[in-house]
Amino acid sequence: MSNDILLAHTLLEREPSADLIRSIAEVAVRLHHPGLECPRYFAGLDLALQDEPPPFGTREYGLIYRSLSVEPKWMAVSLITNAEREGDGSKRLWSLAACSVDERQQHLLKRHACDESRHSLIYLSLLDLAFPGAVSPEFRVELRQLSPGFTMRQDLFPVPGSPYAKVPTIDDFLQMNIAEIRTAIHHTMQRPALAEHCPPGNQDKVTKLHDALLTDELAHIAYTAVLVDEIGRDADPDRLRALFRRRFHDFNTITTEELGGNVFDCSVACCARRPTCRAKATDAAPAPVLHQIGLGPQ
Ligand SMILES: [Fe+2]
Ligand SMILES: [Fe+2]
Repeated sequence: MSNDILLAHTLLEREPSADLIRSIAEVAVRLHHPGLECPRYFAGLDLALQDEPPPFGTREYGLIYRSLSVEPKWMAVSLITNAEREGDGSKRLWSLAACSVDERQQHLLKRHACDESRHSLIYLSLLDLAFPGAVSPEFRVELRQLSPGFTMRQDLFPVPGSPYAKVPTIDDFLQMNIAEIRTAIHHTMQRPALAEHCPPGNQDKVTKLHDALLTDELAHIAYTAVLVDEIGRDADPDRLRALFRRRFHDFNTITTEELGGNVFDCSVACCARRPTCRAKATDAAPAPVLHQIGLGPQ
């Protein structure tokens, strides 16, 4: 493990805090883009953390997660929800990549889509390892459909009906960046929580999968930060700062709403019922698998 990954692990053992959010972004950029400073990105981030402090940067957020995650069923459902969200995010990224007119951005988005598609399956593997036999073999086969199974060898295409079938903008990259930071925070909370449930013989495999997830999520934070900084070079500084504030404000509203329902990363079907939740997401939602088996968040 490199020093920066070790540092990331050390950071991630801390309670959620605004400082932690800043540190995660810093480590991510340093690890994946050494030498880049991203001054516009970090100035915007600092301002947003000050003016629109995220709920996922508070100690209470970690406490609520911890109190819920002691319940095995909640923890298992949360892994399935993670798999669903990663699969859904993958399709959005695939559509954005398909419509990108910039070769480098297209490649980065395609790789990101493939990562999230793989993550969807990793969360299901975590379910198998931490809760062996918790789902029936038939349902387990069904769960595999949560991942679109994208690979770099496949040709890009806009997912039919997706509002993300459009040329990506700095706004898209900023929203991705905020979401990826929150995912990293969730990762910090999930790691020890899962260890409480996991049979000891499976713990090493769980740790390896978590390490792989963390490395990818840091890469996603890093490349989106770099793109925001690069594209932001041509933006009006006031408007860029306002965009940071607005997007953190929006994301905080969604997070607070989800938290009101004791949900961390709610399901696609859950979001579809609430207009403020993932407001831009109107693309055809996948079958609400969780609700079909009575496990979905109510
Ligand atoms: Fe992911
Ligand atoms: Fe990610």
